Amino acid sequence: MGKVNVIAIDGPAGSGKSTVAKRLAKRLGFLYIDTGAMYRALTLKAINEGVDFMDEKALIELSRKTDIELKDEGGSLRVYLDKKEVSEPIRTMQVTGKVKYVASIGGVRENMVKLQRSLGACSSGAVLEGRDIGTVVFPDALHKFYLDASFKTRAKRRFDELKEKGFSITLEEVEKDVRDRDASDKKRSIGPLKKAEDARVIDTTDMTVDEVVEYILKKINEKK
Ligand code: DC
Repeated sequence: MGKVNVIAIDGPAGSGKSTVAKRLAKRLGFLYIDTGAMYRALTLKAINEGVDFMDEKALIELSRKTDIELKDEGGSLRVYLDKKEVSEPIRTMQVTGKVKYVASIGGVRENMVKLQRSLGACSSGAVLEGRDIGTVVFPDALHKFYLDASFKTRAKRRFDELKEKGFSITLEEVEKDVRDRDASDKKRSIGPLKKAEDARVIDTTDMTVDEVVEYILKKINEKK
């Protein structure tokens, strides 16, 4: 089978993946798929339905009967959970704090990966961002990038983002969240955060979003 027209962007929280992936998709006229938003949407549903986060079976069952859609509305990504828009509520610290339980279950990941593959395969070109895109979801992606940045920079980016959205939070709380998620993202046995062997690493610590996007576009064009 030939390689699929997918750009895989993986990396830890705060590495700049989302902003870069969004802009890249726009520049190329590709579909943008935020896979983290899917895990977040399912987490929100589990919270709303009072599902026990230790109950793997219940969470797998929930993932089976949950409808998650990503829609591009006027250039911004909107997330729908069972037909209801949840783009904002999936970004709260409550959801962020619980998402690791959902993301660490093999059966849940299987269902999510299936959905991500079908979305990517349906499009003429897609940019997918997450943790396991280049390793599990699309190991045959045409282009793979792994974004990273220093811990302090990543935490500060997340802090600024949340502040801008009006959340009342301290930098220390955000640092703790980023540290916790780094640990659980890397240590889970299925679909862990890992650089694909053939991915190009980009350290975004001292780069602007534009610089990262231009760099990626240059590398893509070199390969053509
Ligand atoms: O990118 P994000 O912060 O919105 O992702 C939310 C969580 O979802 C993150 O802590 C790990 C999980 N995730 C995952 O396990 N696999 C993915 N492909 C994307 C996200």
